[in-house]
Amino acid sequence: MADRPASGQTPAALLLGWYDRHRRVLPWRALPGETPDPYRVWLSEIMLQQTTVQAVGGYFRDFVSRWPTVGELAAAPIEEVMRAWAGLGYYSRARNLHRCAGIVAGDHAGRFPAEEAALRALPGIGAYTAAAIAAIAFDRRAVVVDGNVERVVSRLFRVEQALPAAKPAIRALADGLTPDGRPGDFAQAMMDLGATVCTPRRPACGSCPLAAPCQARAAGDAEGFPRKTPRAGRPVRTGVTFVAIRADGAVLVRTRPPKGLLGGLVETPGTAWHAGPPPAEPLAEVPLPAAWEVLDPPVRHVFTHFPLDLAVWRAHVPKGTPAPPGHRWLPAAEIGAEAFSTLHRKVLRLALG
Ligand code: ADE
Repeated sequence: MADRPASGQTPAALLLGWYDRHRRVLPWRALPGETPDPYRVWLSEIMLQQTTVQAVGGYFRDFVSRWPTVGELAAAPIEEVMRAWAGLGYYSRARNLHRCAGIVAGDHAGRFPAEEAALRALPGIGAYTAAAIAAIAFDRRAVVVDGNVERVVSRLFRVEQALPAAKPAIRALADGLTPDGRPGDFAQAMMDLGATVCTPRRPACGSCPLAAPCQARAAGDAEGFPRKTPRAGRPVRTGVTFVAIRADGAVLVRTRPPKGLLGGLVETPGTAWHAGPPPAEPLAEVPLPAAWEVLDPPVRHVFTHFPLDLAVWRAHVPKGTPAPPGHRWLPAAEIGAEAFSTLHRKVLRLALG
């Protein structure tokens, strides 16, 4: 059985002992003996949804220095929050972040609730994030299961069922492991173990505090877990974007609708994106008549649900050229601070050099 190795210590005790020696120092994490700030815990957990620790660090520091409290974030204009978020991806998170800050500041006197159910009622907080905040910010016993935890648990118990079908079984096993004492440290220890030792490729089993009870390691196949159902390939989508550059360096842009992919962000105009070959008649869709040139190669960007090959057409137009309806000229000096997605930053880098 995995829950009582020869040392007599539970996996939770082994893991907490390891955490006391090897815990990562992260910008949002309280140091030993410090009381966690729920605002910082919440902000980090929203930023860390589908985003790596490394990518989040700078954004987190920027947000807490601009808006040190939930009240200050709530009072900021949404456009400013979107601009600060630009580049992190999954932009609905930024809108929900701002809505959530407004509710906590307005209805909860600036204090985050500690119960999972109350946290889940807030915008942008799902089951995982509610559990993580309850555990990390309030030291409530909560079962925190993300991809790291799924990997650790599926290896520890050698779960043969494949993901995603195995999720309920893995969750039940994780529940059984979660201690009553130090649940916040336990959750963070699982994250650290998954990120630094129990990695997807070439796990460092020689340094693992759970090596003794780990059943996948005993079977010589830690890397083979979690089992995964192969998923169907996602077809490449293609489209064209048009970069019109005015003689003074201004670029023609528009703002995407608030809902949906890259919602509310600024972009250069373009065609719709479809699976299959590039649009046959993009000339019919140019925003302005001009001498358009096609830049090569297209910009490749991988979204969660599909890769995109976006062809970039560029034209230089005279100073007095009016912006078509729904578009505006963005002065060259404002391009750096505008809320472009990573995709459109790549486009501009190609087109503007
Ligand atoms: N991934 C999600 N939440 C995290 C956290 N609090 N620390 C490290 N990695 C995480």
